[in-house]
Amino acid sequence: MTALLDDPLDAAAMLRAGALVAFATETVYGLGADARNAHAVAGIFEAKGRPHFNPLICHFATAEAAWAEVRPDARALALAEAFWPGPLTLVLPRRADCRIDLLAGAGLDTLAVRVPAHEGALALLRAADTPIAAPSANRSGRVSPTTSAHVMEELSGRIAAVLEGGECEVGVESTVLDLAAGGAALLRPGGIPVEAIEAIIGAVGRSLKLSDAAPPTLRSPGMMLSHYAPSLPLRLDAAEVAADEALLAFGPPLPGAGRVFQLSETGDLREAASRLFAGLRMLDQPGLRGIAAMPVPGEGLGAAIRDRLSRAGAPRTASNSG
Ligand code: TXA
Ligand code: MG
Repeated sequence: MTALLDDPLDAAAMLRAGALVAFATETVYGLGADARNAHAVAGIFEAKGRPHFNPLICHFATAEAAWAEVRPDARALALAEAFWPGPLTLVLPRRADCRIDLLAGAGLDTLAVRVPAHEGALALLRAADTPIAAPSANRSGRVSPTTSAHVMEELSGRIAAVLEGGECEVGVESTVLDLAAGGAALLRPGGIPVEAIEAIIGAVGRSLKLSDAAPPTLRSPGMMLSHYAPSLPLRLDAAEVAADEALLAFGPPLPGAGRVFQLSETGDLREAASRLFAGLRMLDQPGLRGIAAMPVPGEGLGAAIRDRLSRAGAPRTASNSG
């Protein structure tokens, strides 16, 4: 049963306990989890039924709280001053001591952050006293919900609660702006017009046309592939492992590996998803020939895990090998 809550304090207590709670922002309803809780974040992907791991937006009560996790440059500071709280998401480099779970950022070295302009969302963020990772609160491949009833239609029975927040004022998602790579690139048009952004920081590159048939959300994961594949070659569905290989284990480990990371001793897919990016980083060290990944079943979260592993194992081209 999914509860419909009126009090942000109740919703905050559930979030802090690791449960999934949908909440209204000024743009659309988000499906929230404590962004520092790996198990809770893995639950987001499970509830949405996403076949791959998209990076999620992290929501903060204040800009200062966001700057504790990512490094803003002068442009980010100026945009936050102008548009936060509000429907602008900034992609910035993670700090070395960033406390946001790796899966929330899909293993990337950048993080998307924003401060929403909705009293209920802000009350929830303050009471929870932790950043909240939240994609739009719809099942994968469906439109974003703008009322609590829409969220119930999408996710009832799959999440703990929905915090009632009325109808979303803006109704389209936040504008996503990438400032991490040096330039400024529009990754998704949204609630803040790009012209308003350009009035503050100058020209913004359009990596997509507004009329493009392909939604921008489909582009980011493709971009991840080249930047974040481990440097060691990875083979899927390994049935045996050599002494000069690292083993990504799922269930009782194959004997004889040079180094082992256990995704889930008991074969629990949610635990495995929550540990996947930490595992790839841990195993991807010099000295060994490659990574052997034990078979992970393809259903539920397993599909997203297999998708990520097959990207990691994809042959590298000259342009993305670095
Ligand atoms: O208005 C919104 O932004 C809503 C509310 C709930 O805040 N959230 C939302 O989240 O629309 P979602 O997950 O449906 O869309 C997030 C977008 C995706 O296109 C994702 O690829 C992109 O932001 N994104 C997130 N982190 C990124 C990163 N580190 N680098 C590039 N793109 C990123
Ligand atoms: Mg979405």
